[in-house]
Amino acid sequence: MGNETIQSTLTENRLFPPPAAFSRGASIDDGQRLEHLCSEASRDPASFWARHAQEEITWHKPFSSALDRSRAPHFAWFADGELNISFNCLDRHLARRGDKTAIIWHGDRGETRHLSYREIHGEVCRLANAMRARGIQPGDRVVIYLPMVPEAVIAMQACARIGAIHSVVFGGFSAEALRDRIEDAQARLLITADGGHRAGKIIELKRAADRALDHGCASIESVIVLARTGHGVPMKEGRDEWWHAVVAAMPAHCEPTWVGAEHPLFLLYTSGSTGKPKGIQHSTGGYLLGAIVTCKWVFDLTESDVFWCTADVGWVTGHSYVAYGPLALGATEVMYEGTPTYPHGGRFWELCERHGVTIFYTAPTAIRALMKLGDDIPTQFDLSKIRLLGTVGEPINPEAWMWYYIHVGKERCPIVDTWWQTETGSIMVSPVPGVTALKPGSCARPLPGIVAGIVDEAGNDIAAPDQGGYLVIKEPWPSMVRTIWGDDQRFKDTYFRRFGDSLYVTGDSARRDADGYYWIMGRVDDVLNVAGHRLGTMEIESALVAHARVAEAAVVGRPDELTGEAVVAFVVLKGQRPAGDERVALAKELRGWVTEQIGAIARPADIRFSDNLPKTRSGKIMRRLIRAIARGEEITQDTSTLENEAILDQLREKQ
Ligand code: WTA
Repeated sequence: MGNETIQSTLTENRLFPPPAAFSRGASIDDGQRLEHLCSEASRDPASFWARHAQEEITWHKPFSSALDRSRAPHFAWFADGELNISFNCLDRHLARRGDKTAIIWHGDRGETRHLSYREIHGEVCRLANAMRARGIQPGDRVVIYLPMVPEAVIAMQACARIGAIHSVVFGGFSAEALRDRIEDAQARLLITADGGHRAGKIIELKRAADRALDHGCASIESVIVLARTGHGVPMKEGRDEWWHAVVAAMPAHCEPTWVGAEHPLFLLYTSGSTGKPKGIQHSTGGYLLGAIVTCKWVFDLTESDVFWCTADVGWVTGHSYVAYGPLALGATEVMYEGTPTYPHGGRFWELCERHGVTIFYTAPTAIRALMKLGDDIPTQFDLSKIRLLGTVGEPINPEAWMWYYIHVGKERCPIVDTWWQTETGSIMVSPVPGVTALKPGSCARPLPGIVAGIVDEAGNDIAAPDQGGYLVIKEPWPSMVRTIWGDDQRFKDTYFRRFGDSLYVTGDSARRDADGYYWIMGRVDDVLNVAGHRLGTMEIESALVAHARVAEAAVVGRPDELTGEAVVAFVVLKGQRPAGDERVALAKELRGWVTEQIGAIARPADIRFSDNLPKTRSGKIMRRLIRAIARGEEITQDTSTLENEAILDQLREKQ
């Protein structure tokens, strides 16, 4: 993609200084303090991070050096230090606040549970003991496929306690997607549930897991099944055991396994520009540090807060800001099983009122959906305890930002628009709420210690304001991705090849305005962002061509008012292009097929059939052309090289 195509059209000039009442109580309460942190970081980044790692983490064995560049771009942080994350999130709070509520859980059907730090610690220890008893060793992979219940966090923490590497698979992913991830990770144990409740329906997790295991997954030796719905599922003799049965006889004490700071904590699969998802591998020490400092700097999180991050634990946001960060700081957090609009459109605000939420963090797609329901819904609830709002996952359009600011935050709460990725482990670019004046739609500036930049095609800095380019990170940071599981080469090729070993390529384009504020402009690779979820176009294309009747497929995104982007698939069939009813039926079948292969989030909004796809002479699909067609834009490209210009009309045809 050339620079001329990374063009910005947004112009947003409003500026909202931090409300004085917020700044007064904030831990970073004035510009000088922030400036001090930034200059300390730029003088000597490694010592800056080392100081924070010493202050924020309880080490079993202290580290002697901060950053090891010898295997760049596989950077190592605090490598000879030893720690345990579950000890840092649980044990270290027991003496002072063991009985404090750690998790307030709210179920889809309205039921609630309050779990104290001591209770979670006990449950984590029991499950960790049960895993050890089943032979799970440090470094073994455990796949977690659970609904949003406290046991999801407990399972992650239990893995961390014994040095096992967890890989959480989002409960909305299909059996096929689960199988691919289990097989890539070569997991020995699967932790799942009979089902989950979501918007009044049951999500059949165990049945999906059975389908995955029936067609592969030879590495899985045992399956632990949480009884959540109790709706009756088959259990396989010798392989499946109920969670409550396996933990029943286990002691509520479990000595943590002390691991090196670089020991992998988890793998999380995410979409890239090829058909195969990548297992993003994170470390223990550096990752924990990233989660902790960003909870402090960005969310101003303290012990007295009730923090609610609405993300599912199946995404990285649910790792850093549900499973780890808030617990490491001893806060109280809300965890919610259901959706924003069930059983009514005020559900989020009802929960904020009921549980006294002080910090609320969600996705722009949810805000847009709730905004559509009307301004009068949030006003029916008491949101006066909220002091800070946040967003993540995709650019927020200024209109949705203003709605959130006025109708939820009542013009007294700052909004932190946080830019980061599965690969970065924690927030990278964000306002610091007590200090930064906010611009709707901008994620403001890089955090202290994060050296971001915008470069052109050749890797040179773009200094001029408002010129789009590639967003890169120029220095290693503690919570960065360590490798792609089992594929060091792909790791180097994806993130460190384009501009060499020292520039991490984010895959996003961005511009910086005259005040140094960053504006994210979207992906530059073949990755879509649908409702804040990353989807590789190639992944959806591979799913489509796996269907018996599909010869070829090209998938692109088009803007969507609610989900940010929507999936549009252009399909060439083996044999005749269908017409009439057959076309409608086949489009429906293919939508269902993609849902089965990947999950409902990948379901194409439009499917269009054509006799062939527009290609260059070298055989590459002309994606820009297809994208323009999907968006209903005028075609400005030279189409004279097309074999068959008539297909342009076919491609434009809506089903
Ligand atoms: C996009 C989610 C604009 C971006 C934490 C990034 C954003 C991808 C923002 C990562 C934001 C995330 N503004 N775009 N505040 N936050 N993105 O890995 O394209 O699921 O590369 O991590 O989401 O998605 P991922």
